[in-house]
Amino acid sequence: MESAGLVVESEGSRCEVQVTSEQVELGSILRIGRLYGIVAYMRYRDDDKIGSKQKLNASVQIFGEKTDAGMRSIKKPVKPYSKAYPASGEDLEELLDCADSISFGVVHGTGARAYVDGGEYDRHTAVLASTGAGKSYLTANLIKEYSLKGLPVLVVDTHGEFPGLLSLIRTEEPLEIEVYTVGRDKQGYKTFTIPVSTLTCGDYRHFTNLNDNQVHALDMVLNRVYHRKGEEYSLDDVVGVCEELSEEAGRGNAKVHEETAKALERRIRSLRNIFKGVFTVDGTDLNQLVQPYKIAVIDTSLSTQGVRQSVVSYICKKLLDGRINKKHTLDGKAIDNDVLLVVEEAHNYAGASLDHSCKRQLQRIAGEGRKFGIGLMVVSQKPSKIDEEILSQCNTGVYMHITNPRDKDHIRRSFESVSDEIIKELDSLDVGECVITGAMLKLPFLLCTVDRIESPKKRERKLQYKRKRHVKTGKFDYV
Ligand SMILES: Nc1ncnc2c1ncn2[C@@H]1O[C@H](COP(=O)(O)OP(=O)(O)OP(=O)(O)O)[C@@H](O)[C@H]1O
Ligand SMILES: [Mg+2]
Repeated sequence: MESAGLVVESEGSRCEVQVTSEQVELGSILRIGRLYGIVAYMRYRDDDKIGSKQKLNASVQIFGEKTDAGMRSIKKPVKPYSKAYPASGEDLEELLDCADSISFGVVHGTGARAYVDGGEYDRHTAVLASTGAGKSYLTANLIKEYSLKGLPVLVVDTHGEFPGLLSLIRTEEPLEIEVYTVGRDKQGYKTFTIPVSTLTCGDYRHFTNLNDNQVHALDMVLNRVYHRKGEEYSLDDVVGVCEELSEEAGRGNAKVHEETAKALERRIRSLRNIFKGVFTVDGTDLNQLVQPYKIAVIDTSLSTQGVRQSVVSYICKKLLDGRINKKHTLDGKAIDNDVLLVVEEAHNYAGASLDHSCKRQLQRIAGEGRKFGIGLMVVSQKPSKIDEEILSQCNTGVYMHITNPRDKDHIRRSFESVSDEIIKELDSLDVGECVITGAMLKLPFLLCTVDRIESPKKRERKLQYKRKRHVKTGKFDYV
């Protein structure tokens, strides 16, 4: 095999290879004797021996030595002047082999499948990239891979694009996809509802303008409803207690002003009309959705932002409580199976400055989900807007094309597994290319080309506007 270059400097687990092969690029995996490393950075450097002519050098991060007992980490630097070779297909297969292997693409520049350890789904994943980089296509591929392994997947689909994307993926066994809409009916889809009892005062504030006095009054109302009905109450019950409070306030028997109570009553009444069919007494039973081999897509594209946030809040709470009930065989509704929760456009639900119960519930899943078999996958085009606590719990990072320096900084702060060199290179990635780092991978990182999803040919986009023709007829213009 033709050599890829020569080691010219070496220190710790890093070495500098003077590149002689056109094939070597960022992310190429090289073999140096029994050692394996990955090209983390490339630059041209002066070579003293040949005057001012610059030579291409690759900074290689050595990640292991192949021994009869498997790979082990290296204890001393690579010998200078060793020759480096591109890793063969067989080498790559061996290096990436893992217990629950899943693959959503090929190792960049090779035909080798890029296997990662799907068993690490419960250490949470973040898929981050600028808009249009290919996040949704990558996520659809990942969902397909998990589903083929039997893991139940629940997708919060903010733009309603996953039913279409998933249906375009060809698999030997057809994928089992069930789609639910929120708030509006769509033909052929079921509807997903949320129990009113999951709404906190803060959540109500997201739906309607409530001042501090009204929130205080609402708190009294919700406590009274809960005291009477437990967790099974409707918006009618909330309206009923609001009426009661207004009457009491009118008689001077309540701790709130009559005006406040009446205004609250009006607002809750109007909420009841707007959110008809979204909030019910029981809500959808999530245990039915979380079943092996099933992909349940919750299409929230037709709902308002507040309703979407309530959907995420409800799902997170029910999943975690249900899994806790299952594990400790507690009374209450149990969720029988492990699950992967995919949240698309996650900055809407986990925004750093967001004050909605959905953020707190996502933080709970990120912090405790692993103990109960819940994996979280957050997908976002605005990494810098996402709560750092949630991001830092994602032990696998999948990054695509990113240029915004603020987003890059946020990623650097939130993830231990990502080096500055990789961050620097994120703007050089093309659509459909990604860098994977962290828990799912034995290597320091992997550059991967995501499998294409062939969609029916789109009409060529052209800006074709025609001027309206004006016909001069005497004094007036007619179009
Ligand atoms: N793996 C792929 N196979 C085929 N086409 C792809 C692939 N990845 C991305 N593309 C192309 O790039 C376009 C954008 O991809 P995608 O919708 O996944 O981006 P995105 O990052 O989710 O964008 P947004 O931020 O708008 O949600 C697609 O319409 C498709 O044309
Ligand atoms: Mg998308």
